[in-house]
Amino acid sequence: MTPSALHANRLATRVKLKDEHIITRMANIAEGLEDVIKLGRGDPDLDTPAHIVKAGQDALGRGETHYGHPLGLPALRQAIADNIKAYGGADYAIDEIVVTPGGQQAMFIIALSLLNPGDEILVPCPGYNPYSQAAELADAVVVPVRMTMDTNFTLTAEMVRPHITPRSRVLVLINPNNPTGTVTAPDEVEKIAQLAIEHDLIVISDEIYSRLTYGNQRIQPVAALPGMRERTITLSGFSKTYAMTGWRVGYFAGPRELMVAMAEVNHAFAISTASVSQHAALAALTGPQSVVEEMRLTYDERRKVLCAGLDKIGIPYAEPQGAFYVYANVAAVGLPATEFCARLLAEGRVLMYPGVIYGDHTDDFVRMSLTQPVERIREAMRRIEAVVATIRAGQQMPAAAGAK
Ligand SMILES: Cc1ncc(COP(=O)(O)O)c(C=O)c1O
Repeated sequence: MTPSALHANRLATRVKLKDEHIITRMANIAEGLEDVIKLGRGDPDLDTPAHIVKAGQDALGRGETHYGHPLGLPALRQAIADNIKAYGGADYAIDEIVVTPGGQQAMFIIALSLLNPGDEILVPCPGYNPYSQAAELADAVVVPVRMTMDTNFTLTAEMVRPHITPRSRVLVLINPNNPTGTVTAPDEVEKIAQLAIEHDLIVISDEIYSRLTYGNQRIQPVAALPGMRERTITLSGFSKTYAMTGWRVGYFAGPRELMVAMAEVNHAFAISTASVSQHAALAALTGPQSVVEEMRLTYDERRKVLCAGLDKIGIPYAEPQGAFYVYANVAAVGLPATEFCARLLAEGRVLMYPGVIYGDHTDDFVRMSLTQPVERIREAMRRIEAVVATIRAGQQMPAAAGAK
């Protein structure tokens, strides 16, 4: 028997993605090229601020190399509670917060803890796709709520309403949203919350980008709204706000009645989050917050440069209001976005992802991350302009131009 025949039926049916993901495929292609400008992953190029790194080093020096409390370092959970409150969030006690190895793991803990097989979870599309993967692993039914350019890709209560059925249990709100970089305004968040109360839904409120907004955008924490604390799981982390992706620290917070059991699911998965990383995260919250403002201003400048470049080429995009992404419509270039991304990588050595991987129902959009310095973004725009010109002229640029 061939290895593929041997393994054909061994993956559980709940594993829906059986092939290599586009992200992995593109990363492999990029590996073989030189001088690729990476606007792909949502991983800041900025360094973790020095005082946070030092706190991690000090923790290592003190021998903080053991398992920690299953819910997370108490001092860190207290700092998280204070931080949530300081930004207009709900009041959480420290036994209502669970520190996880990244917000990503929290998604799976939440899905496995709250969804029974056949339960429906409403997810914004395009939206951060691991929510759907987590729900699928829980044998739940993912109900995509399509967003479009008409509302600048922001979720509204009226978009969600027609999808609600007696099996609906959980609604995901990602605000600011990834991949679109757009913000659901506070009054709309209130309407979504009202809908959740009417239909007895639990809301997963992903606020991981909430400190990174532009202009006069403001994020309304869901759990702080009347009647929402008991039906909201707030999810966040340190990766984006403090450029700490590799430290792997995130958290979720919710009402004690749910958190006691959910904390034990996390305990079974992780035992505890890396102690060193938790000490670094504590320093992030208790140290100077000016570092966050500096990073926000950096992304803001990059955002303006990238948008000006798209304007020049004639590529429309959703107004980026938060996070560090720009979501652009490449349909007018004349290729599906997936093909456009492949051509751009091969011929222009610029890496970005098509919106389909975030559940977009059209293959028209691409996500660009603002994770390169301004000069590299300018260079990326020049390369994009050149590739777009060759595509529009029905030609192909020499693909091996930058091959290693
Ligand atoms: C919306 C959103 N939530 C959560 C995460 C998870 O981040 P981490 O696991 O690094 O905390 C990400 C990462 O890209 C994200 O975009």
